[in-house]
Amino acid sequence: MTDVLDQQAFRYSNDAEPQLLCEDVPLSELAREFSTPLYVYSKRQIIENLHAFDATLKASGKEHYVSYAVKANSNIEILRILAEEGSGADVVSAGELLAALAAGFSPDKITFDGTGKTDREIELALKANIHAFNVESLEELTVINNIAERLGVRAKVSIRVNPDVDAKSHPYISTGMKENKFGIDMENAREAFIYASKHPALEVVGIHVHIGSQITSLDPFIKAARSTVKFVNSLRVKSGIVLEHLNFGGGQGIHYRNVVKHPLLPKDELGEEGEYVPSLSEFVGAVLPILDQTGLKIIFEPGRAIIANACALLASVLYTKSNSLKKFVITDTGMTELIRPCLYEAYHQVAPLELHQGSTQRVDIVGPICETSDFLAQSREMPPLKRGDAIAVLCAGAYGYTLASNYNLRPRAAEVLVDGTEYRLIREREKVEDVAGLSEKEKALMASLVS
Ligand SMILES: Cc1ncc(COP(=O)(O)O)c(C=O)c1O
Repeated sequence: MTDVLDQQAFRYSNDAEPQLLCEDVPLSELAREFSTPLYVYSKRQIIENLHAFDATLKASGKEHYVSYAVKANSNIEILRILAEEGSGADVVSAGELLAALAAGFSPDKITFDGTGKTDREIELALKANIHAFNVESLEELTVINNIAERLGVRAKVSIRVNPDVDAKSHPYISTGMKENKFGIDMENAREAFIYASKHPALEVVGIHVHIGSQITSLDPFIKAARSTVKFVNSLRVKSGIVLEHLNFGGGQGIHYRNVVKHPLLPKDELGEEGEYVPSLSEFVGAVLPILDQTGLKIIFEPGRAIIANACALLASVLYTKSNSLKKFVITDTGMTELIRPCLYEAYHQVAPLELHQGSTQRVDIVGPICETSDFLAQSREMPPLKRGDAIAVLCAGAYGYTLASNYNLRPRAAEVLVDGTEYRLIREREKVEDVAGLSEKEKALMASLVS
């Protein structure tokens, strides 16, 4: 949903043998130096994405703020960049809260989400004096109240409502329908607000709604905005509860197709434009006038729209093989590094790091993991690929590393941040001996093998 940059961070060079670049750095150089799998981020793209969100909201002239959803990508260096640029942080665990504080996010710009906050997490967040808890149930309100009372503080709470709106995204990333575990349904939400307002250790400051992720039509957002505004107004009129903010969550979809373009790349099946995704201006233009009817401060919690297109996941081709039905390109990278294709049948553009003339072929690009669902792309028209070639899986910045796993005892990959012509490692590749939990003695025994 981010508005397009003049010059995309990931693009091909203009050479006779085009090379895929991140800003000014050829990705093949990074693949050689740091090996693959490798996540490569563009600092410029991260900042541009945040500024685009901020600027579009500022144009409305009303008070608002952007609170980055840390779950999308919690690399501490990325968090530092966003904190420095003035973003807030939306966290869902003690780990994310500590990382956000360490990265320099101001506590009064931190919100704490999640259906299952533990007592320890609530205590930690109260001690850190965060902006608000986004509360998901009546029982959670009681627990927060009790812990706040014990600590002698007041907890600022915002209650998450479930507007029963179909986000028309993948069912696993739809969160705003009655059958989902998230929020309190509109019929019971008033009772929760009244309950909270009667407890002295709770200060009711807001309302929260988040209907899902990778939402590519405006309609669900508009429906959710309308029903939330109706609720806020009736809460004020009928129950005398006046809020400070309305947190409209995240979920803004982004383009996953045609992210990098080149005449040597096969045409996307959906054509030049790829999938329809409303622009940020269209989104803000559609929902802000509705949300502004409340007169409240509006918060947005984007994750994907800030970080997804700022990263390419690099992989190397290990083998190619075919049978009477299919051609497979087997890489060293798979569902352990990017589970989205397997989990949500998500589409990610895959592009070779170096482009050559040659006839294209339809292939499944798969990983080395022992699961049939271990694929990066299925039935995809690709330029010729052979053993030793490297490819980039684009838009891997959101829910890439954060959903990575050690399945098959694979170490998590390294992360590199590019800034113009410079780059640096922002997280080392895990070591197989650590992942396997070897004792120091066992590590010493294996040292000659793993060095
Ligand atoms: C409460 C909440 N806010 C914000 C987000 C960020 O969503 P997205 O990355 O789609 O913008 C999520 C992710 O699902 C979420 O659960």
